[in-house]
Amino acid sequence: MGGFAVRDGALHCEAVPLALIAHAAATPAYVYSAGLIRDRFARLDAALAAAPHRIHYSLKANGSRGILELLRAAGCAVDVVSGGELYKALRAGFTPDEILFGGVGKTEGELREAIAAGVKLINVESEAELRLVSRLAADLGAVANVGLRVNPEVDVKSGHQYIATGERGHKFGIPIGDAASAGRLAIALPNVSLQALDMHVGSQLSSFDAFREGTARLVELSMELRAAGADIRYLDAGGGLPVPYDAEEEPDLAAYGAIVTAAANTLGVELLVEPGRFFVAASGVLLTRVLYCKESGAKAYVICDAGMTELLRPSHYDAFHRIEAVSPRAGAGAVTVDVVGPVCESGDFLALDRELPGVEPGDLLAVHTAGAYGYVMSSQYNARPRVAEVLVDGTRWAVVTARETYEDLVRHEIPVPQWREA
Ligand SMILES: Cc1ncc(COP(=O)(O)O)c(C=O)c1O
Repeated sequence: MGGFAVRDGALHCEAVPLALIAHAAATPAYVYSAGLIRDRFARLDAALAAAPHRIHYSLKANGSRGILELLRAAGCAVDVVSGGELYKALRAGFTPDEILFGGVGKTEGELREAIAAGVKLINVESEAELRLVSRLAADLGAVANVGLRVNPEVDVKSGHQYIATGERGHKFGIPIGDAASAGRLAIALPNVSLQALDMHVGSQLSSFDAFREGTARLVELSMELRAAGADIRYLDAGGGLPVPYDAEEEPDLAAYGAIVTAAANTLGVELLVEPGRFFVAASGVLLTRVLYCKESGAKAYVICDAGMTELLRPSHYDAFHRIEAVSPRAGAGAVTVDVVGPVCESGDFLALDRELPGVEPGDLLAVHTAGAYGYVMSSQYNARPRVAEVLVDGTRWAVVTARETYEDLVRHEIPVPQWREA
């Protein structure tokens, strides 16, 4: 099954010591367990067995080519939210009929690419977008298969306001009260085929009530639109399965599966789900080396070679990530420290007021549960090249994304601008 465990006093990813990877591939680096990703896919797949279903991995959580290929090989499809993600999915070998295309602000260019590729569904978020899709499809001599992303306006328990998306007033989806008329418009438009209702109510959902209430609203609406002539073939329940970052429990997949499969079976349609975090979060660590330990006022700082540029979640979402020494020092007493990065921002931290066993410069730390919304949110701020991504599979490991170089930082600079007159 893989994963991360201490063996012979040192933290391993599957059978590979993290210290070996740090030595060979340098730090900071993201390290992912292929076995854990496959295991989590298989468990979710089994939990959905009561209905015909397809799992569309949400590429936004981690778009690493190595991870996309291993999920595709396991039988997973994909969900994308930009032209860039569509490009990456096709390059990783997903066929258009394995791709859902969503997103609240798709451009004309992106929609044209999705229609021309012939994706399984474009999940549309407004009447204006529906009209645009129909017009673009007509230009291309096509009929685009669409879903309506509905905002079911349910109570979302997600742990952070930035990852709740299905409450009244959020920017995502078509408000539930407007969805029937958007559906009738879709039925009337000549170059779209309305085949699904879709929701994504939030991420890291600590209660499944939002799935229960949201899918119930989609079922009701699907029946209404069927009666009006729509050929509804899918129910898309979105992503949002939570993972434990600290001491929380793993989600009850059987309970989740029972809710979403029952909804799809009521309609007699294929269930689609779009999990991201659930597959990759706990399957990855950010490996970082301690550069300095210092004190300032009453505070003790552990300054690492990774920070907000590599893992934005602590400063952006106040997110908690467990931090573990890769090779703990014998007898080191616990101290309370801020684990911070090298970026010139006071908001650059990995953990605040965290009890860690005493660490020293040169030590390696693993920042856990960093595989989702980690690398994909990294930046070059402070002219820091993006780090490497490493995939471990049993006793084997490989760099699947190369560390950027200084050249990459200036690749798009135009040293001699071609000035034009207005
Ligand atoms: C439309 C859509 N689907 C799926 C997901 C994946 O969510 P999660 O990683 O919580 O499963 C997201 C994440 O924001 C999303 O916006």
